[in-house]
Amino acid sequence: MEVKHDRLPEEPYGQLKLKTGPRESSQNPTRSQQKCIVGFALVCCFAISVALIFSAVDIPGSSSDTEDITEDNCNRNCRVHLVENIPDGLNFSDNATKHISLFQGWMDLLDAALHSVDIVSSYWALRNSNQDQSHSLSHWGEKVFEKLLELRTRNIGLRIPVNKFQFGSQETKNLKANGALVKYINMTPIIGGKLHSSFWVVDKKHIYIGSAHMDWRSLTQMKELGVIMYNCSCLALDLHKVFSVYWQLEYRDSVPEIWSKKLFGFSSEHSPLKLQLNETEAEVYLSTSPALLCPYGRTKDIDAVLRVIANAQRFIYVAVMDFLPLINRTNVQRYWPLIDDGLREALFLRNVKVRLLVSCWKDTYAPMLNFLWSLKTFCSEPINCNFDVKYFVIPASEGKEVMFSNVNRNKYMVTDKAAYISTSDWVGDDFVQNTGVSLVIKHKQSRSGKNQAAVHEELKAVFERDWNSKYAKSLEINMFPECLKLKTYQHKLS
Ligand SMILES: *[C@@H]1O[C@H](CO)[C@@H](O)[C@H](O)[C@H]1NC(C)=O
Ligand SMILES: *[C@@H]1O[C@H](CO)[C@@H](O)[C@H](O)[C@H]1NC(C)=O
Ligand SMILES: *[C@@H]1O[C@H](CO)[C@@H](O)[C@H](O)[C@H]1NC(C)=O
Ligand SMILES: *[C@@H]1O[C@H](CO)[C@@H](O)[C@H](O)[C@H]1NC(C)=O
Ligand SMILES: *[C@@H]1O[C@H](CO)[C@@H](O)[C@H](O)[C@H]1NC(C)=O
Repeated sequence: MEVKHDRLPEEPYGQLKLKTGPRESSQNPTRSQQKCIVGFALVCCFAISVALIFSAVDIPGSSSDTEDITEDNCNRNCRVHLVENIPDGLNFSDNATKHISLFQGWMDLLDAALHSVDIVSSYWALRNSNQDQSHSLSHWGEKVFEKLLELRTRNIGLRIPVNKFQFGSQETKNLKANGALVKYINMTPIIGGKLHSSFWVVDKKHIYIGSAHMDWRSLTQMKELGVIMYNCSCLALDLHKVFSVYWQLEYRDSVPEIWSKKLFGFSSEHSPLKLQLNETEAEVYLSTSPALLCPYGRTKDIDAVLRVIANAQRFIYVAVMDFLPLINRTNVQRYWPLIDDGLREALFLRNVKVRLLVSCWKDTYAPMLNFLWSLKTFCSEPINCNFDVKYFVIPASEGKEVMFSNVNRNKYMVTDKAAYISTSDWVGDDFVQNTGVSLVIKHKQSRSGKNQAAVHEELKAVFERDWNSKYAKSLEINMFPECLKLKTYQHKLS
């Protein structure tokens, strides 16, 4: 199969410089002003049509895939799997909730592929380039990499947008040499941050979204959570639009002034897709960040988070690596309290039970604790709201030296109303300047009681398993946990 190559590197409508200003001019126009406005509107319409017709928006694979899936004939009857990577060091009880491993999920997806595999990952490190560490550790990553190399012989197109100045670029070079289409995108001038989403679209039918990037450590030492959906082309089409947004940014240094209609959101908070997930009816939509990369019809990720929090009535369970109400740029930090505010409102005004599970490892930024202590103090007497926070620590597995990447990288929220599975941490940067994608699933209340809201219940079970495990420790006010002390210790060593 011949995968379509890039058309024009430079967007022709860059010249048109449409201004939005005149729309807001005089409230009470005279006749001549009206004429002028009508004339201007016509010119505008014309310019926009020309721009749309000639815009070099590259929708990859739109003509090369043999089956033509459209928004009208797409499949809404999906099969859904949660996928997790549970590091060796963790020992959950036998009857704890279990899912397909992330490795198996990825391999199954690659087996299912017939035409195209599109992968977004911040960086690529499936092979362990560090010769000091034993080869066996990166075994699973190697397997995935080999399977990706095989796609070419199976006549399946592989497309990869990746950060231009990424760590471990050798791997994408290898894939490119083996027939993959790779685009190196410098997001910094466009959005100020970087490509930080991690998702797959396979044959525009099956998808993966989750915390794991294409990293061998995500298949061994890091704790990851994601979701895979099969036969879900309505949602896959929409996720593919997000892919296409990145794909067309290759040579750009700013956001296009207008987006092609093909990139408009197909699902949103206001018009979610009505899908069957494992025979359970659900309303589903995607949200993305940052706002600059949200074409018309796309819900901003921060709005999705705040909406899920605001709609919760009984409980909000959150698992994120970092929770920090800051835009945490290296030189200028800015206060960014939107999520913190949302939680306080839920706690104080609506009496919702909130549980927050964060991670503690060598890179944990210590001031995060102060913000969490502050929430905990907020809920003491006389308010007495229902808040608790724990931190998750992954111990080194028996007989192995401490791996510096032993960390819980989960990024999800589950409430009594919805499940939210994301690629973003709860730090301002991930909403304001890095790209991210989240999946929001609202289950219909099943009247019969059986056929429980599947994903939602499964995700809740994951949270409860982790929260009640011995690896989740209570965060006591003004007490620095061991994991941070270890950090100081390590710093002294190095
Ligand atoms: C894990 O649990 C099993 C039994 O449940 C026990 O035999 C084993 O020692 C445990 N391993 C660790 C590392 O705690
Ligand atoms: C395992 O399941 C049984 C029965 O459902 C329950 O009684 C037991 O407490 C569970 N064990 C653990 C460790 O959760
Ligand atoms: C997807 O649909 C096809 C055709 O309807 C079916 O053969 C296949 O088993 C389905 N896959 C899953 C994972 O349900
Ligand atoms: C926030 O910024 C500080 C200082 O630059 C850095 O050490 C820390 O890792 C950052 N934390 C997060 C969660 O981004
Ligand atoms: C959906 O169904 C599949 C197979 O029928 C099952 O393995 C999976 O666990 C189900 N997913 C959820 C979230 O319950």
